[in-house]
Amino acid sequence: MSDLPPSTPSDEHSNSLLDRLDPPSQQHSHDKEIGLSLEPMRSEKETSLEPRVKRTVADKWVQPHGPPVGSTFGARLLGEDSDPYSHNTWDHVVLPDGFEQMAKEVLEVHRSSPVSPEKRDAFNARPAEYWNAFYSVHSAAFFKDRRWLRLEFPELIACTEPDAGPKIVLEVGCGAGNTVFPLMHHNENPNLIVHATDYSKTAVDIVRANPMYPIPPHGIGRMHANVWDITSTPGAGPSRSQNGDQTFPPSVESEESEHGRRTDQTWVLPKGVEPGSVDVITVIYVLSALHPTEWRQAIHNLYTALKPGGLLLIRDYGRHDLAQLRIKKDRLLDPDTPNLYIRGDGTRVYFFTKEELESMVLAPPQGGTGKGNMFEIEQLGEDRRLLINRKERLKMYRIWMQVKARKLSPSAPS
Ligand SMILES: C[S@@+](CC[C@H](N)C(=O)[O-])C[C@H]1O[C@@H](n2cnc3c(N)ncnc32)[C@H](O)[C@@H]1O
Repeated sequence: MSDLPPSTPSDEHSNSLLDRLDPPSQQHSHDKEIGLSLEPMRSEKETSLEPRVKRTVADKWVQPHGPPVGSTFGARLLGEDSDPYSHNTWDHVVLPDGFEQMAKEVLEVHRSSPVSPEKRDAFNARPAEYWNAFYSVHSAAFFKDRRWLRLEFPELIACTEPDAGPKIVLEVGCGAGNTVFPLMHHNENPNLIVHATDYSKTAVDIVRANPMYPIPPHGIGRMHANVWDITSTPGAGPSRSQNGDQTFPPSVESEESEHGRRTDQTWVLPKGVEPGSVDVITVIYVLSALHPTEWRQAIHNLYTALKPGGLLLIRDYGRHDLAQLRIKKDRLLDPDTPNLYIRGDGTRVYFFTKEELESMVLAPPQGGTGKGNMFEIEQLGEDRRLLINRKERLKMYRIWMQVKARKLSPSAPS
């Protein structure tokens, strides 16, 4: 417990910011990072002093502005003889003895003081409104050149190579575009289409207003930004984003009911996205904003969008992450739903275990025979990073989850 930073009112604010900081591979390099330039990419000629070796798009994500290949980026390991206070961060750390017990005690404090039922219902009723409010204030503040994407999700970057062929990427919960704009900035694939979606209309408007939208200055690739609630069901009507912005009519026109919607349809996809059409889906710090009762429909919608063999990439907060242990009283949304909180700004946040994410993606497809899994898991990882406050000699543990899951079953919509 003594290793945790003190819980003060100002912590509440920094916690909310901390929640939105980027994951490990990037965090320790924030200061050195160069903001994403909207200038066209440097041509090979401009870097003529470098050896004339053809560099892939993936290489360019790391150089010339990023850390050199082979640097300690994401790989500073705390050995038995290392002095933990000699650096600000350590990667892939083991949690110390007593950490689990300390975390349990903190969670017990949370459990004993949940938010009131009235407030809970209000927070759950219109969650997108809190994100709208968030983006109204932070329209550009969280825009980053996410170099860690290239390290953690090379499969995503592979879609942007010049000879990758036709590729469709669906970015879910795109926010201000922290993933899609760096991706498009580096893109060299003329056949890349990126669908940026969020259920916050304010976030989508920010993406649409960006000079890189819908076609970046270098002219390669195209984006579409639309409001879409990942949890939506066909019967639910317009998005719970309450924007009055109906953006997800059924994509399939057959077997329509008199209201123009397939009577047997169980999924809702973003405007312009056909079932079984997407190569890669990215869901970065988005599932944590859902209520656990919404997970099943969310994954079902994503499964429906992917083509067979398509890849689902998830990154999110892990159980007992610093952001969870810093939470104070009166933030647990419901004692019957542990690990789901409301932040100071009204947005929800959940902290996952590997098992929860695993069972989410290994469930059988809806509407089928009930046999087999939706996905095959290629990676299910827990990423732990130790942050050091050298001045105050504090140790803080960030814990993130990462999943790569490949769609197994046929793409036919149920
Ligand atoms: C923590 S932010 C992450 C934003 C972005 N993915 C990133 O990594 O910077 C969570 C985002 O998910 C969006 N979101 C939350 N619930 C959603 C839902 N049910 N459907 C679609 N987007 C959702 C929020 O509006 C917000 O933009």
